[in-house]
Amino acid sequence: RASAPASAPDPEPQQVLAPLSAAAVFLVVTVEQAGEQAVRDLLGDLPGLVRAFGFSAPDAALSCVTGVGSDAWDRLFDAPRPAELHPFRPVDGPRHHAPATPGDVLFHVRAARSDLCFALAAEIMRRLRGAVALQDEVQGFKYLDVRDLLGFVDGTENPVGGEARDAVLIGAEDPEHAGGSYVLVQKYLHDLDAWNTLPVEAQERIIGRTKATNVELDAPGSHVDLNTVVGADGEERQILRDNMPFGSPGRGEFGTYYIAYSRTPEVTELMLRRMFVGVPPTGHDRILDFSTAVTGTLFYVPPAGFLDDLPPLPAAAGRVPAPAGPGPQPQLPDLPDGPRGED
Ligand code: HEM
Repeated sequence: RASAPASAPDPEPQQVLAPLSAAAVFLVVTVEQAGEQAVRDLLGDLPGLVRAFGFSAPDAALSCVTGVGSDAWDRLFDAPRPAELHPFRPVDGPRHHAPATPGDVLFHVRAARSDLCFALAAEIMRRLRGAVALQDEVQGFKYLDVRDLLGFVDGTENPVGGEARDAVLIGAEDPEHAGGSYVLVQKYLHDLDAWNTLPVEAQERIIGRTKATNVELDAPGSHVDLNTVVGADGEERQILRDNMPFGSPGRGEFGTYYIAYSRTPEVTELMLRRMFVGVPPTGHDRILDFSTAVTGTLFYVPPAGFLDDLPPLPAAAGRVPAPAGPGPQPQLPDLPDGPRGED
């Protein structure tokens, strides 16, 4: 008997599953009018650029994950929309607010060396000059033994291996985008002076883990408790976080760049509601009393092969709109008598 045709291999994802790195650059840009073609050219060249900058330093594992925002999708690609791509939905809690901020394309550049991240980010922005407006740029770094600037080890409970793939990669629920992912970013600024007035035990109850030894606590209403969510099937619903500290001591800026990959944005959005709106009886996440969200954007991360073979540009994109009607023609000033031009 003829054997059944082999099923198509799963599309290779971009490097969303790369481990936490020592350095990262986060670039969020919006596409200017008629900038679409330049952005598409860059997207197509990105895999080659990552190879060019990363090849001679394989141990540094340079990678770049590219995400596309909801409004930009229709401007850049004549292709079916990812089922759950929508603009970031702001969250309003009784005390704290998660704003939505503009973003058409995200570049999440990672490596063990900050110079490689810098070089790739510089080349990306050079190629996009004039075609995009920069909305946000953050240079993240690994801090001590993988701690955030609140002083706690961040990333411990991230899923790994098959669990991570299940949590992060779109599957049969949206076959045209299988191997893709969603990524939600938020930039948080910490009030470290206020945070550091708290006794360590109070900080630990807010986070839900011990500070020195990173052991989970039984702390209802803690950050960890609010972000532990289970589905209708009783299974924990997970996301993959690649948070990085950033800051400028001279300017008194201390932050966490929050970045979460997920198979559906629904899980991260549920976590945000639990943090900002709160859950009775404990209320909102007290981490927010010391951390302000200043950006918020959602992107779709296509599989790697998408960048090598982009769908066509939509017919209407990339054109500067014609001026409305034949208005008065500008009058050229009369040239004074005398030599004109170079004759
Ligand atoms: C856990 C820090 C924002 C989701 C943690 C942990 C720390 C932390 C220290 C415990 C260790 C770990 O498992 O990683 C922060 C900081 C934030 C922030 C400093 C920004 C101010 C967020 C946001 C979300 C989130 C906005 C979701 C929308 C989670 C999840 C866990 C976690 C899912 C793991 C919970 C578990 O133990 O299963 N975070 N976080 N975090 N955080 Fe955050």
